[in-house]
Amino acid sequence: MMENIFSGIQPSGTITLGNYIGAMKQFTELQDDYNCYFCIVDQHAITVPQDRLQLRKNIRSLAALYLAVGIDPEKATLFIQSEVPAHAQAGWMLQCVAYIGELERMTQFKDKSSGKEAVAAGLLTYPPLMAADILLYNTHLVPVGEDQKQHLELTRDLAERFNRKYNDIFTIPEVRIPKSGARVMSLQDPMKKMSKSDPNSKAFITLLDEPKQIEKKIKSAVTDSEGVVKFDKENKPGVSNLLSIYSVLEQVSIEELEQRYEGKGYGEFKGDLAEVVVRHLEPIQKRYYELIDSEELDRILDEGAEKANKVAAKMIKKMENAMGLGRKRR
Ligand code: AQP
Repeated sequence: MMENIFSGIQPSGTITLGNYIGAMKQFTELQDDYNCYFCIVDQHAITVPQDRLQLRKNIRSLAALYLAVGIDPEKATLFIQSEVPAHAQAGWMLQCVAYIGELERMTQFKDKSSGKEAVAAGLLTYPPLMAADILLYNTHLVPVGEDQKQHLELTRDLAERFNRKYNDIFTIPEVRIPKSGARVMSLQDPMKKMSKSDPNSKAFITLLDEPKQIEKKIKSAVTDSEGVVKFDKENKPGVSNLLSIYSVLEQVSIEELEQRYEGKGYGEFKGDLAEVVVRHLEPIQKRYYELIDSEELDRILDEGAEKANKVAAKMIKKMENAMGLGRKRR
């Protein structure tokens, strides 16, 4: 039997090259060999303030992007989290298994709550909801970028705790982090990861940016004054980040790129990288614009939600039985 994969992306903006290289690109590579569930995790997005019209737009846009990068709905189940109520139900049960202390230790919670006056409780309880997303589908493998590693470890802890305390019902999932591109950095602050909700739009490239914007953003990416195209994460984080992006998209090694740009300046290197990114995104954008207003997209999401609901409802029954919720049905 095929093993299961689950992964989700938040519709908290248009997805970036970071989300694509760290997560989505893996999805298309894995869909032939696994039974995949890919989710638009809109309930995670509301852990921070969102504009309702923009959120709706981002949800549809993310669904179209999943398909545009090559997710095949014949092979994988694509659905929206809020259309499968089991996620919130299981999320609540797992909140009751999680400890406040371990949730407060999550670096994403610390980063996103620091300096804020009013922090939604949902930001703290985000990881048990993420655990629910994963555990509902008997997931064996979770392909994500490096920043989600800590949440995955917590998911495993919660599953093991539930299995021990109540009943042994959950598969313990493994994390899968790509060998290169697991942490694409901001173009404006290469010590910080690239994020789709960064207030500075020059810090990221989205999958829907136009060629001119891409060129501008890469040309203004922060590097250093040395003028040598060399990979050195510690001393040259900006150039190293650009080299990583180039290497993953062109499928050439970093060493080969270093040789190719020996004696050449950042101008030429950045210009070529912009071309590579534009070329890579061109077919994705073409497919995206065919899909975005199509009925086909709604049909795929309806079918995905139906399929996910069936699978997830079975796990909810097991969880409720294990915890003693509801009545025993005759
Ligand atoms: N910079 C990154 N490099 C590589 N992978 C990344 N991912 C995120 N940023 C990078 C991976 O993308 C997937 C989807 O992430 P998410 O939408 O669930 O939330 P996130 O990790 O918090 O991503 P963002 O872009 O930073 O979103 P916001 O700004 O809303 O918080 C995950 O697999 C993640 O690892």
